[in-house]
Amino acid sequence: MSTTRLLHLALLSGLLPWSWASSPAETLHPRDDEAFSPPYYPAPAGGWLSDWADAYEKAYRVVSNMTLAEKVNLTTGTGMFMGPCAGQTGSALRFGIPNLCLHDSPLGIRNSDHNTAFPPGVTVGATFDKDLMYQRGVELGEEARGKGVNVLLGPVVGPTFRKPRGGRNWEGFGADPSLQAIGGSLTIKGMQSTGAIACLKHFIGNEQEMHRESSVITQGYSSNIDDRTLHEIYLWPFAEGVRAGTGSVMMAYNDVNRSTCSQNSLLINGILKDELGFQGFVVTDWLAQLGGVSSALAGLDMSMPGDGAIPLLGDSYWGSELSRSVLNGTVPMERLNDMVTRIVATWYQMGQDQDYPLPNFSSNTLDETGPLYPGALISPTGVVNQYVNVQGDHNITAHAIARDAITLLKNNNHTLPLSTSDSLHIFGTDAGPNSNGLNSCTDQGCDNGVLTMGWGSGTSRLPYLVTPQEAIANLSSNAQFYITDTFPSVTPNSSDIALVFINADSGENYITVESNPGDRTTADLYAWHNGDDLVTAAAAKYSRVVVIIHTVGPLILESWIDLPSVQAVLIAHLPGQEAGYSLTDVLFGTYSPSGHLPYTIPYQESDYPSSVGLLDQVFGQIQDPFTETLYIDYRHFLNANITPRYPFGHGLSYTTFTYSAPVLTTITPLDTAYPPARATKGSTPSYPTTLPNPSEVAWPSTLTRIWRYLYPYLDDPSSITSNSTTASYPYPSGYSTTPKPAPRAGGAQGGNPALWDIAFSVQVTITNTGNYSGRAVAQLYVELPSSDVLGVDTPAKQLRQFEKTGTLTPGESQTVELNVTRKDLSIWDVVVQDWKVPVDGDGVTFWVGEGLGDLRVECAVGGTCAVVDSVS
Ligand SMILES: *[C@@H]1O[C@H](CO)[C@@H](O)[C@H](O)[C@H]1NC(C)=O
Ligand SMILES: *[C@@H]1O[C@H](CO)[C@@H](O)[C@H](O)[C@H]1NC(C)=O
Ligand SMILES: *[C@@H]1O[C@H](CO)[C@@H](O)[C@H](O)[C@H]1NC(C)=O
Ligand SMILES: *[C@@H]1O[C@H](CO)[C@@H](O)[C@H](O)[C@H]1NC(C)=O
Ligand SMILES: *[C@@H]1O[C@H](CO)[C@@H](O)[C@H](O)[C@H]1NC(C)=O
Ligand SMILES: *[C@@H]1O[C@H](CO)[C@@H](O)[C@H](O)[C@H]1NC(C)=O
Ligand SMILES: *[C@@H]1O[C@H](CO)[C@@H](O)[C@H](O)[C@H]1NC(C)=O
Ligand SMILES: *[C@@H]1O[C@H](CO)[C@@H](O)[C@H](O)[C@H]1NC(C)=O
Ligand SMILES: *[C@@H]1O[C@H](CO)[C@@H](O)[C@H](O)[C@H]1NC(C)=O
Ligand SMILES: *[C@@H]1O[C@H](CO)[C@@H](O)[C@H](O)[C@H]1NC(C)=O
Repeated sequence: MSTTRLLHLALLSGLLPWSWASSPAETLHPRDDEAFSPPYYPAPAGGWLSDWADAYEKAYRVVSNMTLAEKVNLTTGTGMFMGPCAGQTGSALRFGIPNLCLHDSPLGIRNSDHNTAFPPGVTVGATFDKDLMYQRGVELGEEARGKGVNVLLGPVVGPTFRKPRGGRNWEGFGADPSLQAIGGSLTIKGMQSTGAIACLKHFIGNEQEMHRESSVITQGYSSNIDDRTLHEIYLWPFAEGVRAGTGSVMMAYNDVNRSTCSQNSLLINGILKDELGFQGFVVTDWLAQLGGVSSALAGLDMSMPGDGAIPLLGDSYWGSELSRSVLNGTVPMERLNDMVTRIVATWYQMGQDQDYPLPNFSSNTLDETGPLYPGALISPTGVVNQYVNVQGDHNITAHAIARDAITLLKNNNHTLPLSTSDSLHIFGTDAGPNSNGLNSCTDQGCDNGVLTMGWGSGTSRLPYLVTPQEAIANLSSNAQFYITDTFPSVTPNSSDIALVFINADSGENYITVESNPGDRTTADLYAWHNGDDLVTAAAAKYSRVVVIIHTVGPLILESWIDLPSVQAVLIAHLPGQEAGYSLTDVLFGTYSPSGHLPYTIPYQESDYPSSVGLLDQVFGQIQDPFTETLYIDYRHFLNANITPRYPFGHGLSYTTFTYSAPVLTTITPLDTAYPPARATKGSTPSYPTTLPNPSEVAWPSTLTRIWRYLYPYLDDPSSITSNSTTASYPYPSGYSTTPKPAPRAGGAQGGNPALWDIAFSVQVTITNTGNYSGRAVAQLYVELPSSDVLGVDTPAKQLRQFEKTGTLTPGESQTVELNVTRKDLSIWDVVVQDWKVPVDGDGVTFWVGEGLGDLRVECAVGGTCAVVDSVS
């Protein structure tokens, strides 16, 4: 959500003619050019899968008894700043359904108190630890539930680091679809185990921040993505999240193929609901809705925060306009019933009918009392914050993630770990506190002190923060601090060790930090605050320099990485509230570093494909063709034969590991190129299609109206007549009410369940052969056969599975098992519209190792399985 844009628009709204807001353009496919999103109608109804049968049955009983006003209430937000949460629906209290609270963020409860500020997705990805991924999800869900948040707006699996400078990459788990898929689905399972509804976002192609949004004054960019690239890269983690049972999916701001995501019928009706079998509800990103009838027909189920083109006017594309469009026969009753059934079924599916708390916090203020509806100029007041402490012992997980993500890039001469008696000179404001105070910048929109997260809606307040400075000061007997980004005049002894802290920030587009409007436009891929100069200056004076980097994503390190005195480099990613002691755990050797890079670090920015740069233009719509297709991040570096500075998956330890005794086992034979035929679709709830009585949306005489609040009611509903021919409404081209045949790639949540048959498993024994305890990360990369087998080129290697060992003491071994599914070996066949494997896995090679530059095992299907020399 963008507060700045809101204020901006609220200001503008006084200046613009009213008609701009009330006659939105409802164009589905603004330009019929080469990038065109084909129509897909009608919206498939939910409820045809057995996993959701009970919830749909309960929802059916309720929805069949609902009035039009109750139905519309649940689909539409009550308006920006019209309640405690980032958004809330209207209620249907006759059935015990309250205003549903939808609230940020993917790393903790935003704009609240007594919450945990977990490390964000990129840090979680760097742990390569499935248990921590799941556990963080559980604890996020517990905090959401404890505060009364029904729908927690996360996890993020898009953007996916296509653009290294993209502002919100850090909210997701890394630059690889399988890493995103595993991180996202475990987060969902954890969150929803507590009853909180997850919201998987942003669907889809939101790879840069600048110009993402369409509004009355500008048009968001169009991500023009071909079908195969969509399936194999960007859709992959969404499919896994749907398979994990996510209750909701958020549509991105941008267009795909010139059709805006929140009303793109192919994306919502076709891909999400039919092919992926999504049973929950689809919600807009905040203010991303651009049309009323069009979005309803295209499959949207919920409008957030409910406002129309210009927020805070009491105007909506839905709300009373949805009531009208149903009464006038334009939006079919089936569509409205399906929207509401999906929302109510999701509420039942997570058990929210059983004692789920109401919101007991306000994201609008930290005061105990305040206006209940700050968006209304005159609002009743009351207690809005109960300051419920939801932190539990979640600092343990937050700390473990921050620690186990720390990625050791280089460590010459065993400079690390340090001893607490070493003479340490610490440089850089990134070691210290925010000089203006903890949480002094709204939504963390500044880079001041240790960087714990990026900025924007994907943040939360820090309940406390132990800085690296404090943690080092407490543990080291011999530390001197120079919390400055300008190298001071010091005369070190030869035994002094310099620790230099630098960082790189980015965030969401509604805040600009140091001339970076979300994306790293000005900072480029360099450290902020002249961090590179600080390292170089320290390296000129000290013979031993350790660099600690807090960063949102890849950085160019070339100005100093090879200087002889730069002995060790750690990427501590974005550590959240536990920044200090998670770092000292590793610096002083209580733990070996065990994080691995969730993206590639190149020698120079020009090593990326030219098509992944940021796009900016003043007039017209930006077209962003994904011409690099599958070849983003390491897929590109392998394909273009460009050696990176540090490859994807890289991460050293204080100890060493050997891999031995690899075994490849066939589990489910892949005896056909395509998966077996899907099951036929089950039935869906069927309601009477007769139009409701218009009186159901007449203003209740008892209602105390709140100014600009969004209601389902109309002034004179009985005057609305339905035109049964409906010929008077210009339906989008391709509009139809005849259901499409069920897509062959579908069949269950996520797609045809046979895609998740385990085809092969690789077992390998990992032994700690060094002198420290530590954890290894076995990463499995798939190499598919050449194009004459599958008919298409594929990336040389693709991460498909990983397992992290427990803490192995010196000499200790553990055998890990890496399972590979049919889908993991498939390409998307655009002609057949299904997933295709090389039959029997012929020609497939599995590689297992500690990173793409450190592969230890090679197993060829039908051939040998052997330990190989580490290729670096
Ligand atoms: C976008 O257009 C490409 C062709 O240019 C097509 O392959 C793809 O399926 C389209 N995707 C969507 C979601 O419209
Ligand atoms: C509507 O509610 C009544 C009782 O309130 C219940 O008996 C009936 O089963 C409900 N309708 C449906 C279709 O379940
Ligand atoms: C719709 O929701 C509002 C609260 O947002 C509530 O005041 C109103 O009573 C609800 N309408 C119905 C018919 O339940
Ligand atoms: C029905 O109402 C909707 C919402 O106001 C409007 O967009 C649509 O044009 C109307 N349809 C007809 C046939 O008047
Ligand atoms: C606030 O949270 C507490 C603890 O989770 C819960 O018991 C209480 O019901 C909530 N408050 C409200 C108003 O629901
Ligand atoms: C978590 O916080 C508690 C106090 O609230 C503290 O005793 C404990 O040491 C902390 N644990 C970690 C791992 O930081
Ligand atoms: C390791 O340290 C020795 C001196 O202690 C130094 O001569 C050598 O250059 C160092 N090696 C590296 C790779 O920095
Ligand atoms: C540092 O140690 C002191 C004394 O043991 C303690 O009071 C303080 O809380 C510690 N600081 C942090 C940040 O843990
Ligand atoms: C229904 O629409 C048709 C075609 O636009 C029009 O001729 C007819 O007058 C409309 N009927 C009503 C009752 O509005
Ligand atoms: C791998 O799959 C088998 C089923 O074939 C299952 O029993 C096992 O638990 C899986 N292993 C892991 C590590 O998930």
